[in-house]
Amino acid sequence: MCTLCASVSQQFNMDLQLIKNRFGIIGNSPSLNHALNVAVQVANTDLSVLINGESGVGKEVFSQIIHALTARKHNSFIAVNCGAIPEGTIDSELFGHEKGSFTGAVDSRKGYFETVNGGTIFLDEIGEMPLGTQARLLRVLEAGEYIRVGSSKVQKTDVRVIAATNKELIEHSQSGRFREDLYYRLNTVPIRVPSLRDRKEDIPLLFRKFVSDFSDKYKSATVQLDDEAKKVLMNYPWPGNVRELKILLNKYLCLTKEKLLLPIN
Ligand SMILES: Nc1ncnc2c1ncn2[C@@H]1O[C@H](COP(=O)(O)OP(=O)(O)OP(=O)(O)O)[C@@H](O)[C@H]1O
Ligand SMILES: [Mg+2]
Repeated sequence: MCTLCASVSQQFNMDLQLIKNRFGIIGNSPSLNHALNVAVQVANTDLSVLINGESGVGKEVFSQIIHALTARKHNSFIAVNCGAIPEGTIDSELFGHEKGSFTGAVDSRKGYFETVNGGTIFLDEIGEMPLGTQARLLRVLEAGEYIRVGSSKVQKTDVRVIAATNKELIEHSQSGRFREDLYYRLNTVPIRVPSLRDRKEDIPLLFRKFVSDFSDKYKSATVQLDDEAKKVLMNYPWPGNVRELKILLNKYLCLTKEKLLLPIN
């Protein structure tokens, strides 16, 4: 590597470490660093972002990092779990409604695209969004326009959309459950957050950090890993990823007052 390239690369690694420190991101695997680099680079562009990755890999943390690194950081950030809102109310939640527009609409209500104007909306589990809502979202992304449920008045909004999914959206779009045009619109900049089993070298780092955090919190003894226990941790598939490791260590350090070796399963 030439001297200039080496110095640029060193600066880049330092900047990345600062971001990790600021947001409590642990890990140094090339795949995590790559995802983080893309997030940092895309942050200031105002483009829509699609974050892909298994449950518990840190998708929401990534969305918070992107918001915090933009000029929108002083405005609102809201996370909406599209999979947790019933199909009958999601349009109203996101875009608002007029009084009397449906049974129970006793007052008019602002939706998130109105209240978060100037900020960022994180749409988690975007693959669960109903098709009708997808059409409304596409209109926001293409023209910055939306209409409250039961209204005919077009309103303007300036909201950055960050979406996340733990499914393969392209397959959803091929089977007609997700609009292809919306998929391509959101996927302008894809970020794939790697699973824990694809970056095993990060497991001991995460382990040490969580043990230190939770033993401080519960004033408990620390957990020691011998070679055998380390091997078990590294070979376990971690289907719940970082969240699973964090919850496991929280549980153990909350319950124990003694040093222990962790049995998995
Ligand atoms: N690299 C990391 N370092 C430290 N903590 C992390 C890291 N990645 C994720 N976490 C922690 O793991 C937990 C799960 O992260 P997050 O909620 O962002 O996952 P997710 O991908 O959105 O999951 P889901 O698909 O289930 O919504 C959080 O407590 C988060 O702080
Ligand atoms: Mg999430």
